[in-house]
Order: sequence, then C-alpha cells, then structure tokens
Amino acid sequence: MSFSELTEKTRSYRRFQEEKPIHSELLREIIGTAGIAPCASNLQRLRFSIITDEKERRILFSGIGWAGYLTDWAGPEPGKRPSAYIVIHAPEEENFFTGIDVGIAASYIVLSASEAGIGSCMLLNFKKGSVDSVAPAEGYAAKLVIALGYPGETVLLEKNSEKIRYWRDGKGVHHVPKLSLETLVLKG
Ligand SMILES: Cc1cc2nc3c(=O)[nH]c(=O)nc-3n(C[C@H](O)[C@H](O)[C@H](O)COP(=O)(O)O)c2cc1C
Repeated sequence: MSFSELTEKTRSYRRFQEEKPIHSELLREIIGTAGIAPCASNLQRLRFSIITDEKERRILFSGIGWAGYLTDWAGPEPGKRPSAYIVIHAPEEENFFTGIDVGIAASYIVLSASEAGIGSCMLLNFKKGSVDSVAPAEGYAAKLVIALGYPGETVLLEKNSEKIRYWRDGKGVHHVPKLSLETLVLKG
C-alpha cells in the first residue's frame, strides 16, 4: 500500500468488531511508531496508556462524546464499541508545543493502526475523570484518547467537496467530505 493509499484509508471509525481483540504486542508496536515521531526539541515528553480490559473500556466509553454532527446517534451500540483505547498523556506543565506533539503522535498512531487493518478515532470529547480512573498518571494530564478496533462500518472519503459536515446515508455508510486542493492551497 502506498502512503497516499494509506492516508485515504485512514479515516475515523466509530463502529468496530468489538469481539475481535487487538493483540497487545501490536498495540505496543503502534505506540512505538509515535515514540519515534518528530517532537519539539526531541524532549519526548508524551506518555501512553493502553486500555483493553472490558470493565475499564466500559468506564472510558461512558465518558466519550461521539460524532457531534450526527445529532440523532448516541454512539456505537454494544458489540460495535472499541476493543482498545490508547490515551496520550502530557506533563501537567504544558509548554507551547504540547498540542503539536500530541497531534503528531496521534497521527502516527492512527496511520500505523490503519496499516495493520485497524480502524481508529481520535477523541477529544472525553470525561477526564473516566480517563484518570482507568489510566492514572501522576504529573501527567490526559490530552487525547484514541479508540481502536477492527472496522465494523464503511467509511467513504469524498474528495473535492465543498462541505465540512460528515454524514451517514440510509444504508449506514459514513461519508467524510474533504475540501479540494484549489481551496486548500493559498499560493503555489
Ligand atoms: C483533535 C481531534 C479531536 C476529535 N475528537 C472527536 C470526538 O471527541 N468525537 C468524535 O466522534 N470524533 C472526534 N474526532 C474525529 C473527527 O470528527 C474526524 O477526524 C473528522 O470528522 C474527519 O474524519 P476523518 O478522520 O475520517 O478524516 C476528532 C478528531 C481530531 C483530529
């Protein structure tokens, strides 16, 4: 698979094959790619937690807000929920670069997961208390949660769109519009 094919395939998935576990070694390998990602001054300040335990997943799930644009959908039903989560932690004393480092690390995670056939969704809409109870990390704050699982839905990329809002059709297919290069490139 070429890199551009990988980037097209790497969409946000919110419905998974919950009964299909992701091997813990594979989850660690995925985090390993984030561990060698670029980061400001090579300080490597981020830390990661893997959540696969069923009870802990339930706690995490209860605090997550899914797909804000799909107002009539409360999130994945039992059986379609993530089979794992990765939490990205950063030191409580943030610096200017924290958010950038988290974003780069998260990108590496979702791309390498996708290469392994795993769907993912970055999540900022999470309850801090739920995350802290399953992934405590003294001196660190949870910055991003990434839901993971083998895909349980079809997600279609719509290139050269003028729209922003993703939507779901009558067959349950999730559509993700992306703007054209003409719109994106300001010069050149
Ligand atoms: C920083 C960040 C935070 C996000 N938070 C959430 C979230 O809380 N809940 C959710 O369902 N999706 C969340 N998403 C997923 C976006 O909705 C998704 O990336 C967007 O709809 C585009 O779809 P795509 O990832 O397939 O390109 C988040 C994505 C990013 C990058």
